Amino acid sequence: MNVAVLGATGMVGRTFVRLLAGHPWFRLEKLVASERSAGRRYGELVDDSPEEFRDIEVVSLKEFLKDPDVGLVFNALPASLSLEVEERLAEEIPVFTNARAHRYDEDVPILVPEVNPGHLKLIETQREKRGWDGFIVTNPNCSTAVLTVSLAPLMEFGIGRVHVATMQAISGAGFSGLSALAIQDNVVPLIRGEEWKIETESRKILGRLRGEGIEPAPFEVSAIATRVPVLHGHTEAVFIELERGSADEIRGAFESFDPLAKFGLPSYERPLVYTNVPQPRLHRDRGRGFTVTVGRLEGSGSFFKYVVTGHNLVRGAAGGSLLNAELAKRLGYI
Ligand SMILES: NC(=O)c1ccc[n+]([C@@H]2O[C@H](COP(=O)([O-])OP(=O)(O)OC[C@H]3O[C@@H](n4cnc5c(N)ncnc54)[C@H](OP(=O)(O)O)[C@@H]3O)[C@@H](O)[C@H]2O)c1
Repeated sequence: MNVAVLGATGMVGRTFVRLLAGHPWFRLEKLVASERSAGRRYGELVDDSPEEFRDIEVVSLKEFLKDPDVGLVFNALPASLSLEVEERLAEEIPVFTNARAHRYDEDVPILVPEVNPGHLKLIETQREKRGWDGFIVTNPNCSTAVLTVSLAPLMEFGIGRVHVATMQAISGAGFSGLSALAIQDNVVPLIRGEEWKIETESRKILGRLRGEGIEPAPFEVSAIATRVPVLHGHTEAVFIELERGSADEIRGAFESFDPLAKFGLPSYERPLVYTNVPQPRLHRDRGRGFTVTVGRLEGSGSFFKYVVTGHNLVRGAAGGSLLNAELAKRLGYI
């Protein structure tokens, strides 16, 4: 199946392109970016482009929209452009997107495939309500993706509340995100909109499919988000209240979490690994960036704490989106 990546020259777009090299199901045919990049070879714009895409000429979004002619679109455009573009494309084509534009629509899933694969059923609702042949599936913001992979195995213990403090990598802000001067030798405890996104998106992801929408998970999620001078890999300190379960049982649940192994998806890696001291530089590339690493689990009674780290551009963005598309294809939605 031929696919396109929109925003192919950005942080997330480059990650899509890298992950699509040699992909057995999806053949990357169109690389789309702004007028600034249009007409140039991808390899000229992106030094470390995979060999097979170096000579593809980048097309502008405007040109692409005139005749998309692909079976599936991965979107890594800024949110401001995505609302209209995604709706227009979804009339005909499945769209898997990193942008937040449609994450909060009632009939659009925020999918983390290991966590809430059943929410893919909303595709049927979208098609029925909106009359589309395609659909939109979003993935969450990067820190929410890492967090929810670690929370999913804990649902069986009855989550009462979640507090999280994030330490997020610079690449999470995109190419033009933060000046070197602001982040060197510093911690910036403000990422606009991020805390609301973590609190809202994680409850939707861990919520229940009810009729034509999702009933959010019934527990409180409270977040503080900080930016730290790490290149890739978001690390999160999580404080959690559980109705039952011991530290040993929780660790066992982390270690046995492997929900999609049976589907044989080309990009699937074990989603969660337990280690003593999770650290972004050491662990972000585990499982080619798809695996999150959990550790430092402590606690007793109903209060526990742990640390989780994961690759923001792979698990938290392009990789998550690619896995979503693979699962949707495997389940017959594409
Ligand atoms: N970075 C992360 O960890 C992360 C994680 C989850 C979600 N996201 C979301 O993913 C999306 C992309 O983020 P990013 O970090 O990759 O951003 P980025 O590095 O700033 O890249 C933006 C991309 O969009 C293209 N673009 C910008 N304006 C355009 C226009 N007017 N017409 C056509 N193309 C245009 C750029 O092309 P040019 O190079 O030609 O300008 C570039 O390819 C955003 O919606 C973001 O919120 C990011």
